[in-house]
Amino acid sequence: MSKRIGIIVGSLRESSFNQMIANSIPELVDSAEYEFISIANLPLYNADLDHEEGPDPVKHYREAIQKTDGILIVSPEYNSGIPGVLKNALDWASTPTKTAVLIHKPAGVIGATPGAKGTILSQQQIRQTLDATQSYVMPAQKMYISQVTDKIDSNTRKLTDDTTRKYLQRYVQSFLQWINQVERLNE
Ligand code: FNR
Repeated sequence: MSKRIGIIVGSLRESSFNQMIANSIPELVDSAEYEFISIANLPLYNADLDHEEGPDPVKHYREAIQKTDGILIVSPEYNSGIPGVLKNALDWASTPTKTAVLIHKPAGVIGATPGAKGTILSQQQIRQTLDATQSYVMPAQKMYISQVTDKIDSNTRKLTDDTTRKYLQRYVQSFLQWINQVERLNE
Protein backbone atom coordinates (compact mmCIF):
# COMPACT_ATOMS: atom_id res chain seq x y z
CA MET A 1 0.00 0.00 0.00
CA SER A 2 1.31 3.47 -0.81
CA LYS A 3 2.55 5.63 2.04
CA ARG A 4 0.68 8.72 3.13
CA ILE A 5 2.93 11.73 3.60
CA GLY A 6 1.77 14.86 5.41
CA ILE A 7 3.33 18.11 4.22
CA ILE A 8 3.52 21.06 6.61
CA VAL A 9 4.63 24.40 5.18
CA GLY A 10 6.20 26.84 7.64
CA SER A 11 5.05 29.96 5.79
CA LEU A 12 1.53 31.37 5.70
CA ARG A 13 2.35 33.75 2.82
CA GLU A 14 0.07 33.51 -0.22
CA SER A 15 3.02 33.48 -2.65
CA SER A 16 5.34 31.49 -0.41
CA PHE A 17 8.33 29.96 -2.22
CA ASN A 18 8.33 27.13 0.29
CA GLN A 19 4.70 26.43 -0.57
CA MET A 20 5.71 26.30 -4.25
CA ILE A 21 8.48 23.80 -3.45
CA ALA A 22 5.98 21.74 -1.45
CA ASN A 23 3.49 21.85 -4.35
CA SER A 24 6.11 20.25 -6.60
CA ILE A 25 6.63 17.18 -4.41
CA PRO A 26 3.57 15.07 -5.43
CA GLU A 27 4.44 15.13 -9.13
CA LEU A 28 8.12 14.34 -8.46
CA VAL A 29 7.34 11.21 -6.46
CA ASP A 30 3.91 9.94 -7.41
CA SER A 31 4.22 6.59 -5.63
CA ALA A 32 3.01 8.16 -2.37
CA GLU A 33 -0.18 9.91 -1.28
CA TYR A 34 0.09 13.43 0.09
CA GLU A 35 -1.90 15.59 2.43
CA PHE A 36 -1.12 19.27 2.88
CA ILE A 37 -1.67 19.99 6.57
CA SER A 38 -2.44 23.67 7.18
CA ILE A 39 -1.16 25.40 10.28
CA ALA A 40 -2.83 28.73 9.45
CA ASN A 41 -5.79 28.40 11.84
CA LEU A 42 -3.98 27.09 14.88
CA PRO A 43 -4.27 29.36 17.93
CA LEU A 44 -1.12 30.41 19.76
CA TYR A 45 -0.09 27.60 22.06
CA ASN A 46 -1.63 27.96 25.47
CA ALA A 47 -1.49 25.10 27.95
CA ASP A 48 -4.83 26.30 29.39
CA LEU A 49 -6.49 25.40 26.05
CA ASP A 50 -4.60 22.12 25.78
CA HIS A 51 -7.11 19.69 27.28
CA GLU A 52 -8.08 16.21 26.02
CA GLU A 53 -8.81 17.16 22.40
CA GLY A 54 -7.92 20.84 22.35
CA PRO A 55 -9.66 23.54 20.26
CA ASP A 56 -11.22 22.35 16.96
CA PRO A 57 -8.41 23.50 14.63
CA VAL A 58 -5.91 21.72 16.90
CA LYS A 59 -8.04 18.56 16.95
CA HIS A 60 -8.22 18.48 13.13
CA TYR A 61 -4.52 19.24 12.81
CA ARG A 62 -3.54 16.46 15.21
CA GLU A 63 -5.87 13.98 13.48
CA ALA A 64 -4.38 14.89 10.11
CA ILE A 65 -0.85 14.17 11.36
CA GLN A 66 -2.02 10.98 13.05
CA LYS A 67 -3.29 9.62 9.71
CA THR A 68 0.07 10.04 7.99
CA ASP A 69 2.96 7.60 7.79
CA GLY A 70 5.42 10.49 7.97
CA ILE A 71 5.62 14.26 7.72
CA LEU A 72 7.72 16.52 5.57
CA ILE A 73 8.28 20.05 6.85
CA VAL A 74 8.98 22.63 4.15
CA SER A 75 9.93 25.90 5.79
CA PRO A 76 11.65 29.24 5.41
CA GLU A 77 14.20 30.61 7.87
CA TYR A 78 13.33 33.71 9.87
CA ASN A 79 16.05 35.63 11.68
CA SER A 80 18.42 32.67 11.52
CA GLY A 81 15.86 30.34 13.02
CA ILE A 82 12.52 28.53 12.95
CA PRO A 83 9.49 30.68 11.97
CA GLY A 84 7.22 31.26 14.97
CA VAL A 85 4.14 29.84 13.23
CA LEU A 86 5.93 26.55 12.63
CA LYS A 87 7.28 26.31 16.17
CA ASN A 88 3.75 26.96 17.43
CA ALA A 89 2.41 24.16 15.22
CA LEU A 90 5.08 21.69 16.33
CA ASP A 91 4.38 22.54 19.97
CA TRP A 92 0.67 21.75 19.46
CA ALA A 93 1.65 18.40 17.95
CA SER A 94 3.95 17.58 20.87
CA THR A 95 1.22 17.16 23.49
CA PRO A 96 -0.35 15.27 25.30
CA THR A 97 3.08 14.09 26.43
CA LYS A 98 2.43 10.35 26.28
CA THR A 99 0.19 10.17 23.22
CA ALA A 100 1.36 13.08 21.04
CA VAL A 101 1.00 12.49 17.31
CA LEU A 102 4.66 13.22 16.63
CA ILE A 103 5.94 10.44 18.88
CA HIS A 104 7.85 7.95 16.69
CA LYS A 105 6.62 9.73 13.54
CA PRO A 106 9.14 9.74 10.67
CA ALA A 107 9.97 13.33 9.68
CA GLY A 108 11.98 15.12 7.03
CA VAL A 109 13.00 18.75 6.73
CA ILE A 110 13.23 20.86 3.57
CA GLY A 111 13.76 24.60 3.28
CA ALA A 112 14.03 27.27 0.62
CA THR A 113 15.28 30.86 0.68
CA PRO A 114 16.03 33.59 -1.82
CA GLY A 115 19.29 33.92 0.14
CA ALA A 116 22.55 32.00 -0.16
CA LYS A 117 22.54 29.72 2.86
CA GLY A 118 19.62 27.41 2.16
CA THR A 119 17.87 27.69 5.58
CA ILE A 120 20.67 25.76 7.32
CA LEU A 121 20.10 27.51 10.64
CA SER A 122 16.32 27.12 10.74
CA GLN A 123 16.63 23.45 9.77
CA GLN A 124 18.96 22.89 12.72
CA GLN A 125 16.32 24.31 15.04
CA ILE A 126 13.48 22.37 13.39
CA ARG A 127 15.47 19.16 13.80
CA GLN A 128 16.16 20.01 17.46
CA THR A 129 12.43 20.60 18.07
CA LEU A 130 11.41 17.41 16.25
CA ASP A 131 13.99 15.51 18.28
CA ALA A 132 12.37 16.79 21.48
CA THR A 133 8.96 15.57 20.28
CA GLN A 134 10.41 12.05 19.86
CA SER A 135 9.76 11.99 16.14
CA TYR A 136 12.36 10.25 14.00
CA VAL A 137 14.02 12.81 11.77
CA MET A 138 15.71 11.31 8.72
CA PRO A 139 19.42 11.52 9.54
CA ALA A 140 22.26 12.68 7.32
CA GLN A 141 20.35 13.77 4.25
CA LYS A 142 19.60 17.48 3.99
CA MET A 143 17.58 19.49 1.49
CA TYR A 144 18.74 23.09 1.39
CA ILE A 145 17.43 25.26 -1.45
CA SER A 146 19.27 28.57 -1.94
CA GLN A 147 18.49 31.33 -4.47
CA VAL A 148 15.01 29.86 -4.82
CA THR A 149 13.76 32.76 -6.97
CA ASP A 150 15.97 31.48 -9.81
CA LYS A 151 14.57 27.98 -9.47
CA ILE A 152 10.81 28.39 -9.58
CA ASP A 153 8.27 29.59 -12.11
CA SER A 154 6.09 32.11 -10.31
CA ASN A 155 3.27 31.66 -12.85
CA THR A 156 2.88 27.91 -12.42
CA ARG A 157 4.16 28.17 -8.81
CA LYS A 158 6.31 25.06 -9.32
CA LEU A 159 9.97 24.17 -9.02
CA THR A 160 11.56 24.33 -12.49
CA ASP A 161 15.31 24.00 -11.88
CA ASP A 162 16.29 20.52 -13.11
CA THR A 163 19.10 19.87 -10.64
CA THR A 164 16.95 20.87 -7.67
CA ARG A 165 14.02 18.81 -8.98
CA LYS A 166 16.24 15.69 -9.10
CA TYR A 167 17.70 16.48 -5.69
CA LEU A 168 14.20 16.90 -4.21
CA GLN A 169 12.98 13.74 -5.90
CA ARG A 170 15.88 11.75 -4.39
CA TYR A 171 15.21 13.31 -0.98
CA VAL A 172 11.55 12.27 -1.00
CA GLN A 173 12.40 8.78 -2.29
CA SER A 174 14.90 8.42 0.58
CA PHE A 175 12.20 9.64 2.95
CA LEU A 176 9.90 6.83 1.81
CA GLN A 177 12.69 4.35 2.60
CA TRP A 178 13.16 6.05 5.96
CA ILE A 179 9.44 5.52 6.72
CA ASN A 180 9.92 1.79 6.06
CA GLN A 181 12.97 1.68 8.32
CA VAL A 182 11.13 3.45 11.15
CA GLU A 183 8.14 1.14 10.77
CA ARG A 184 10.45 -1.86 11.32
CA LEU A 185 11.91 -0.06 14.35
CA ASN A 186 8.42 0.60 15.76
CA GLU A 187 7.33 -3.06 15.39
C1 FNR B 1 13.47 36.54 6.40
N1 FNR B 1 14.25 35.95 5.43
C2 FNR B 1 15.37 35.22 5.78
N2 FNR B 1 16.02 34.41 4.88
C3 FNR B 1 17.10 33.66 5.26
O1 FNR B 1 17.65 32.91 4.44
N3 FNR B 1 17.56 33.73 6.54
C4 FNR B 1 16.99 34.51 7.48
O2 FNR B 1 17.43 34.54 8.62
C5 FNR B 1 15.85 35.30 7.11
N4 FNR B 1 15.19 36.07 8.03
C6 FNR B 1 13.96 36.61 7.72
C7 FNR B 1 13.18 37.21 8.73
C8 FNR B 1 11.91 37.64 8.42
C9 FNR B 1 11.05 38.22 9.52
C10 FNR B 1 11.41 37.56 7.11
C11 FNR B 1 10.01 38.04 6.79
C12 FNR B 1 12.18 37.04 6.12
C13 FNR B 1 13.85 35.99 4.01
C14 FNR B 1 12.99 34.79 3.67
O3 FNR B 1 13.82 33.72 3.30
C15 FNR B 1 12.07 35.14 2.52
O4 FNR B 1 11.18 36.18 2.91
C16 FNR B 1 11.29 33.95 2.02
O5 FNR B 1 10.65 34.29 0.82
C17 FNR B 1 10.29 33.47 3.05
O6 FNR B 1 9.78 32.20 2.67
P1 FNR B 1 8.39 32.04 1.88
O7 FNR B 1 7.34 32.80 2.60
O8 FNR B 1 8.64 32.61 0.48
O9 FNR B 1 8.17 30.57 1.84
